[in-house]
Amino acid sequence: MSAQSVPVITIDGPTASGKGTVTQRVADALGWHCLDSGALYRLTALHALTKHLDANATDDIAQLAASLPVVFQGAEIYLEGKEVSQAIRQEQVGNMASQIAANVAIRSALLQRQRDFRRLPGLVADGRDMGTVVFPDAPLKIFLVADVHARAERRAKQLMEKGLSANLSAILSDMQARDLRDTTRSAAPLVAAEHAYTIDSSALTIDEVVDQVLAYWQAIP
Ligand code: DC
Repeated sequence: MSAQSVPVITIDGPTASGKGTVTQRVADALGWHCLDSGALYRLTALHALTKHLDANATDDIAQLAASLPVVFQGAEIYLEGKEVSQAIRQEQVGNMASQIAANVAIRSALLQRQRDFRRLPGLVADGRDMGTVVFPDAPLKIFLVADVHARAERRAKQLMEKGLSANLSAILSDMQARDLRDTTRSAAPLVAAEHAYTIDSSALTIDEVVDQVLAYWQAIP
């Protein structure tokens, strides 16, 4: 069976729209694999930071991205043998990821690695360009959005639940800056793919979003 015949559901959207949780839950419900493509950009950013590279060192970072020494083991992620699943979630790493993600060479270095996640029985892939660039032939594409204030409040709540401090206005302005960068970059900007279903999660629970995605999938003949 060719990779193309393995079904993929793409879930794209801005930061803190709930994509990660929805993707994991939909994958669990269907018994499929899951790709958190943002983790690959974050891993590249963390790897570059450990090598003391500046976000402008795009040629060097593209080389790092092409041979990223990463191993995914369930929820654990190892970079050069070190467990980094928490480290890649730091805001500093997310900001660096957003900056380097604007570079075409870095994006293309990560392209095949993302496509390699397409395995039977199916894949649910979350990111910014899953439906537009990485899996353009996916039979179901979702564009998950939410009001920026709702997203900032969710992020603040997540941080506080982890016992970390959260400054709502700083989170909001950081999120607006990241949205602007992700949507206005020339390389694979964050836009809804053609034929994508847009779901606004501002006033929905995770369960409601998951049910909606599964209903779209079941409605495909
Ligand atoms: O989804 P996330 O916040 O973990 O992603 C981190 C950054 O990586 C995000 O600001 C933009 C970039 N990214 C991307 O450009 N394309 C993807 N498919 C996934 C993430």
